[in-house]
Amino acid sequence: MKPVIVVHGGAGTIVKEYEEGYRTGVKRAALKGYDCLRQKGAALTAVEEAVVVLENDPHFNAGYGSVLNEEGDVEMDAIIMDGRNLMSGAVSAVRCIANPITLARLVMEKTDHMLLTCKGASLFAKAQGIPEIPNEKLITERSRERWKTNLHPGSNPVVSQIGLGTVGAVAIDSEGNVACATSTGGLTNKMIGRVGDTACIGSGGYADNAFGAVSTTGHGESIMKVTLARLIINHMEQGMSPEEAAEAGLKYMKTRVNGLGGVIVVNSSGDWTAKFSTKQMTWAAVQDDQLQVGVYHGEKDTMPVG
Ligand code: GLY
Repeated sequence: MKPVIVVHGGAGTIVKEYEEGYRTGVKRAALKGYDCLRQKGAALTAVEEAVVVLENDPHFNAGYGSVLNEEGDVEMDAIIMDGRNLMSGAVSAVRCIANPITLARLVMEKTDHMLLTCKGASLFAKAQGIPEIPNEKLITERSRERWKTNLHPGSNPVVSQIGLGTVGAVAIDSEGNVACATSTGGLTNKMIGRVGDTACIGSGGYADNAFGAVSTTGHGESIMKVTLARLIINHMEQGMSPEEAAEAGLKYMKTRVNGLGGVIVVNSSGDWTAKFSTKQMTWAAVQDDQLQVGVYHGEKDTMPVG
């Protein structure tokens, strides 16, 4: 099997001045994941490593750069899933750590549970030796400005409702195993304790070797209503290609609950797609030593991997 990795840096509307930063970020993440796959690494490790790159990049709404809740604080959600055995781990409303995706993987591998939240997630992180950092260190000037703007009545509801910059990755490795990983700071000015789609299996992501893997981005409450990731897997189970399944899933979310978002999908044959119903979604993919990247509908820049 030829390995493939696809990553996204969130669906929404991207401010022009940040566009290049988003492109560079997703390319770096895809190449990091591909490097792992090229060395016969597992899909699970490739998606985790790719998402860590995006969590550490302040352009994206995950880890450092997460949007702020109504109190001006960071609370993050993340999920990872292994298509070999349907094992999954997630964290929600977690604070004071740099890489929620790594903690999600530890939940999967070191506990009998699938989702740890809030204080429990932080205690578990500490017990696992994950360094605690002041939450302030995750806050950028940009996320603080955005929080302030959205505090005022009359702020643009579209800007405040769409979870810009959620990050994710899907991959298939040389053994034919698939995995997904998704991480986010959620929605700007969300209520304290709000948990979005990202932490919920079947919504923020799903992976099953029999069919493929999906990672989602967009309006969490809409994604959860239609369990978008599992819906797309169901469509592939019925024989649709990743592209057809992604289009059908996003169309259903738009018509049924008026929700917008984006998805990256890989199937068990290594076919993949990046689709979105928002204006933009930053994504990058590597297959056959070719790196592809896009932001706008119909855009696909291709370049060889160095
Ligand atoms: N999709 C990210 C969120 O709504 O939290």
